[in-house]
Amino acid sequence: MMPKKLPASVYQYPRYYAIGYQWNTSAECDFLQRCLKAHGPSSGRRVLDIGCGAGRHLLELAKRGYRVSGFDLSPEMVAYLREEAGKAGVEVAATVGDLRAVPVSGTFDLAFCLMDTFRFLLTNEEIIGHLRRVGERLSPGGLYVTDFWIPTQWDRAANEIYQWEQQENGTTVRVFYLQHPETVNPIDQTFEDELVFVVQEGEESREIRGDRTRTRLILPQEFRALIEASGAFDVVGAYSDFDVEKPLAAGADSWRMVSLLKKRG
Ligand SMILES: C[S@@+](CC[C@H](N)C(=O)[O-])C[C@H]1O[C@@H](n2cnc3c(N)ncnc32)[C@H](O)[C@@H]1O
Repeated sequence: MMPKKLPASVYQYPRYYAIGYQWNTSAECDFLQRCLKAHGPSSGRRVLDIGCGAGRHLLELAKRGYRVSGFDLSPEMVAYLREEAGKAGVEVAATVGDLRAVPVSGTFDLAFCLMDTFRFLLTNEEIIGHLRRVGERLSPGGLYVTDFWIPTQWDRAANEIYQWEQQENGTTVRVFYLQHPETVNPIDQTFEDELVFVVQEGEESREIRGDRTRTRLILPQEFRALIEASGAFDVVGAYSDFDVEKPLAAGADSWRMVSLLKKRG
């Protein structure tokens, strides 16, 4: 049977998002904890998730004893996160907000922006402005972890497809991450990408085909130059995955670049 089509953004379906993206959450939180212990302010416990989505990292870190805050553009994601925090009996400060503005008050020891959210910053000015705003919210020596897709080969830039499947309590979510090479603008280095969920619940199968979103290709060397231009951070390290033992390297079997930045000054 063909899945029933729902014309909407996957970000309006936080429960399916939470199921579909749960696979590496614990390892990613281990990585954040290791970074904070090794390089962050001593005994730093205050964390900020930028583009927190359904809050998989915040919920896990709250359970591990951190004081957690986050924001996301999607009201559905934020409402879901608040509800899940209530069910889990943990405190999470979650608000709706745009990563261009970083609309939070308070001071944090660690900020992070995971799973490609950073690539919604489309221009150099947006990236530099964002880095400065995040720096202003960090305590002295505070850390910022970013994580985004980079091409595995030159001729695969903006032409990659990934898919995986996750299950929970009888619901199966198949996630397709698609890049659309015909939409590439080589001057501003943007292209459209898309998330599609195929959800199976009992007999019913539904396809949620999100809006295509324009995102930015950020290459490793230009990211370093943009960080330098912001004056806000020094680079502690770049990794091919959420593994401090795996520095970013050509030919690494990874689709991600994870960077650890430390507030300057
Ligand atoms: C791929 S999800 C990542 C969510 C979460 N960081 C994670 O690792 O599961 C991207 C998230 O970015 C949010 N988003 C998109 N544009 C944004 C913006 N301009 N400001 C803040 N959040 C944004 C979406 O609503 C979505 O929750």
